[in-house]
Amino acid sequence: SSCIALIVAAGSGQRFGAEQPKQYLDLAGQPVLRRTVEAFRRHPKVSAVRVVINPAFRDLYDAAVAGLDLPEPVAGGASRQDSVRNGLEALADSAPGLVLIHDAARPLIDSDTINAVIAALDTHPAALAAVPVADTLKRGDDGLVAGTVDRSGLWRAQTPQGFRFPAILAAHRDAAGLELTDDAAVAERAGLPVALVPAREENFKVTTPDDLTRATRALDSALS
Ligand code: C5P
Repeated sequence: SSCIALIVAAGSGQRFGAEQPKQYLDLAGQPVLRRTVEAFRRHPKVSAVRVVINPAFRDLYDAAVAGLDLPEPVAGGASRQDSVRNGLEALADSAPGLVLIHDAARPLIDSDTINAVIAALDTHPAALAAVPVADTLKRGDDGLVAGTVDRSGLWRAQTPQGFRFPAILAAHRDAAGLELTDDAAVAERAGLPVALVPAREENFKVTTPDDLTRATRALDSALS
């Protein structure tokens, strides 16, 4: 069945502190969003890519994906959850079998991880890329350690998060208005089993200027 990549790029990037949202900044010669889109476009199991944007940044979007011949972008919403739901609604008519939801701000996504998430959907209605927690976790209180949190069994959720399309569309409609920070949480709430797919540290989310430097280094070392 067909698999569509839905890339959410409608954030304002306020934490980043740049004039432009981070997904439109240059990363080693290409906009972050263009790299993200290309990672899915060149994947043989992904049939199409759809991007969710803030229409206020339409010019930046057009410049970032110039020449890629993408379908019309979808208008996002106030929260990430709203942006995803708008994207899913826009796909409803074409009724894909699978959807991979991915943050535009994760440009270093690799093809093996995309493959593994798609493969997990053979046996599960939902699956997400994630990394096991390696550091010891502390709860902080006013600059002091208030306790140590058991890290066993804890994972850091990334994207892509993949779903059987009808199940995640229904779950998102039902969760509208809640403040859930990822789509797996929407699926969990609907009672869907979500498979954990071990992914790479390199697929981190570009959130701060330091992250852009880190991503540039990762690309440089991949080339040399
Ligand atoms: O803000 P955060 O880093 O969690 O955003 C993750 C992804 O969700 C980013 O790619 C961002 O552009 C997107 N997003 C969105 N609509 C929003 C907020 C975030 O598409 N309202």
